[in-house]
Amino acid sequence: MSEKIYLSEVMMPNQTNPNGNVHGGELMKMMDSTAYAAARKYSRSNVVTARVDELEFHTPILIGDLVTCTAEVIYVGHTSMEVAVNVEVEVLEAEQGPQHALSAYFTMVALDRNGRPMAVPPLKLETGEAKAAFEAGRKRHELYHERKKQRLEAAKNAGKKS
Ligand SMILES: CC(C)(COP(=O)(O)OP(=O)(O)OC[C@H]1O[C@@H](n2cnc3c(N)ncnc32)[C@H](O)[C@@H]1OP(=O)(O)O)[C@@H](O)C(=O)NCCC(=O)NCCS
Repeated sequence: MSEKIYLSEVMMPNQTNPNGNVHGGELMKMMDSTAYAAARKYSRSNVVTARVDELEFHTPILIGDLVTCTAEVIYVGHTSMEVAVNVEVEVLEAEQGPQHALSAYFTMVALDRNGRPMAVPPLKLETGEAKAAFEAGRKRHELYHERKKQRLEAAKNAGKKS
């Protein structure tokens, strides 16, 4: 796994609805920014977000809460990196400490100066946990390619019928 990147922010009134709930888009932006920093630092290149997997908001996050995003590159393909982003929320007036709020995998692609995908360095896997996370990322990467192939074939077949 790569070096972890952290981004913390106290949620302010301009980030919430009138009842004080933080907008999902605010959290998604923080998550994307953290994933971006982790991927950019890892690849030392410009990167763009190609994909975000499922996002489910289980925990309400309210005005005044401290939100911390943690991002880590856990899988690399040829030009893409999968970044695991974890979000914790802490009610600063309470004693219970940070609670897990949500997590997601971001696929980021490294681009060269001409905006074309470029190769990224191989990921050093030093622990069993890192190897398992890499393997799970590899499976998600393969699934993406399988589904893309199926979509292309379906489109081709639909074209033949018309
Ligand atoms: C992401 C992008 C650069 C990929 O370009 P492309 O011509 O499709 O390139 P490729 O097909 O060679 O894919 C490059 C890599 O990205 C991966 N990839 C591309 N689209 C993907 C997707 N939707 N989900 C997962 N992986 C994806 C490929 O698997 C490949 O990975 P690998 O090299 O590690 O095997 C291009 O689609 C793009 O610019 N998209 C817009 C990105 C953007 O504007 N994001 C929001 C703002 S940052």
